[in-house]
Amino acid sequence: MFMFALLLFVTIVWLKPGSKKHIPFPPGPPADPLIGHLRIIPSNNQETFFYELGKKYGDIIYLNILGRSIVVLNSARAAVDLLEKRSSNYSDRVDFPIYKLAGYTKSLVFMKYGKDFQFHRRMFQQYFSKNGCIPYRPLQACEAHVLVQNLVSQPEHKENHFLHFATALIMRITYGHRITTNDDPYLRIAESINFAASNCGPPGGTPVDVFPILRYFPSWFPGAYYAGFARSQKALVARQHEFPYTEVEKHIEKGAALPSFVAENIEMMRREGVEGPQRIQHIQGAAATIYTAGAETTSSTLSFFCLALVLHPNSQLKAQAEIDEIVGSERLPEMSDRPSLPYLECLLQETLRLMDASSTSIPHRSLADDIYNGMFIPKGSIVIANTRAITLDERVYSNPHVFNPTRFLAKPQGLGEPHPVGPFGFGRRICPGRHFADDSLWIAMATILATLSISRATDSEGGEIIPDVRVETGITSHPKPFPCDIKFRTSRWASLITQRVNSY
Ligand code: HEM
Ligand SMILES: *[C@@H]1O[C@H](CO)[C@@H](O)[C@H](O)[C@H]1NC(C)=O
Repeated sequence: MFMFALLLFVTIVWLKPGSKKHIPFPPGPPADPLIGHLRIIPSNNQETFFYELGKKYGDIIYLNILGRSIVVLNSARAAVDLLEKRSSNYSDRVDFPIYKLAGYTKSLVFMKYGKDFQFHRRMFQQYFSKNGCIPYRPLQACEAHVLVQNLVSQPEHKENHFLHFATALIMRITYGHRITTNDDPYLRIAESINFAASNCGPPGGTPVDVFPILRYFPSWFPGAYYAGFARSQKALVARQHEFPYTEVEKHIEKGAALPSFVAENIEMMRREGVEGPQRIQHIQGAAATIYTAGAETTSSTLSFFCLALVLHPNSQLKAQAEIDEIVGSERLPEMSDRPSLPYLECLLQETLRLMDASSTSIPHRSLADDIYNGMFIPKGSIVIANTRAITLDERVYSNPHVFNPTRFLAKPQGLGEPHPVGPFGFGRRICPGRHFADDSLWIAMATILATLSISRATDSEGGEIIPDVRVETGITSHPKPFPCDIKFRTSRWASLITQRVNSY
């Protein structure tokens, strides 16, 4: 077995494309022979590791594992120059054998650059364009009211309530399904999908991703674990694809389907006269992807927001004072209030900047040899836009580690610093759900601040508990559970919210 592996290493290194004559790779740390940086790249917290490397080697770093090139972009300039300005050569993805094994074969997130990619981007762009999202706003507001009600009744389960908020919205707009009870079958599928996704390892970062041959090995073999796990999730993933789709078909037949992503795509397919298993698989894959890509990202951003409020009570009070002045106490916030609430905007942006839910984003892959600022980037490189480093860039943000929402306000009130770029990715791969996600985050944050007071929990001696920022990394990062107290700010809000929620 060892000889076999060695042979494979040697073959790969031998086939490795050489640097073009005299043009150096971007700088990077010293590598081991044959295996390259395999031993020094951690499997967890890669973003921090890359950020630290950046301080030593600069904005663009070159690494390789077993001869496969990895290029890390640690500044907004580099990410925009390559992933946006040269997007036609930087929008491919690497293979994600783990997720393919689990059954995500028609998911935009993992698609190679090509015809299917274009078809799926179009499906998403039609449904989630900036204006296309406006009709969902009343639903988002309703779910935000349900969210604050749930947060007050079970503050110890806040993470679940954030996930429920994101899930309920996604099931509604994707399948036209309303979740009203806790034993809803859509919820149960969602839960097990989260388990599956968060146990498949970092996307593109498991040994099988780097070394696909491992997928043919039994799962006890070192590094092959994730492949075995993925295979065991296949039936479940198939159910996530097929069950809700069949439900929508039934509703359409009865003439009772609510408008939804799936209903609209079924109708379009029938109008075009192209109904068939191929097209159906594409619609099922796109629909399942909305959940897989959109639920945990949204909910973990809200968990980070909640943590920020606990850590920075003055920011909370300031945002509440602004909302009280503009919205008043007679009604709840609406999306139309957004332009009048500049401090809340800052709070949202600072949450995205400092507590980014997807720090290494999803790696892109380059399609052609390229030269950038005198450095050679070989075709087939894994290109990682490291949001952690981009949002902590000292040339852009003063005291980048400090939570300071007013940094975004114009001078002299603020520091005139730009909103973070990168939390939603770059170029032709930029998150197609970003407008919808942004609306969901805003209305949830506005409703929480208007109606709730989120404060530090107290210990047995009556002292305030100031939680540490401890982050769980995975396909999305989220804060490890932390204690806090959640109450309605006034009894008026308590009764108004209860009344609203009971009417839905
Ligand atoms: C706060 C919430 C969200 C965050 C932080 C987020 C972030 C991201 C990031 C960083 C990427 C990778 C972009 C790149 O490769 O350059 C991405 C891709 C993607 N996101 Fe989101 N996302 C969020 C919500 C959503 C929602 C609600 C949806 C669905 C409506 C969605 C659908 C997708 C899809 C389909 C992709 C893959 C795009 C592609 O590969 O072409 N995301 N997202
Ligand atoms: C992509 O690569 C090809 C081949 O090297 C090159 O001709 C083309 O100009 C590149 N496109 C961009 C946008 O950089």
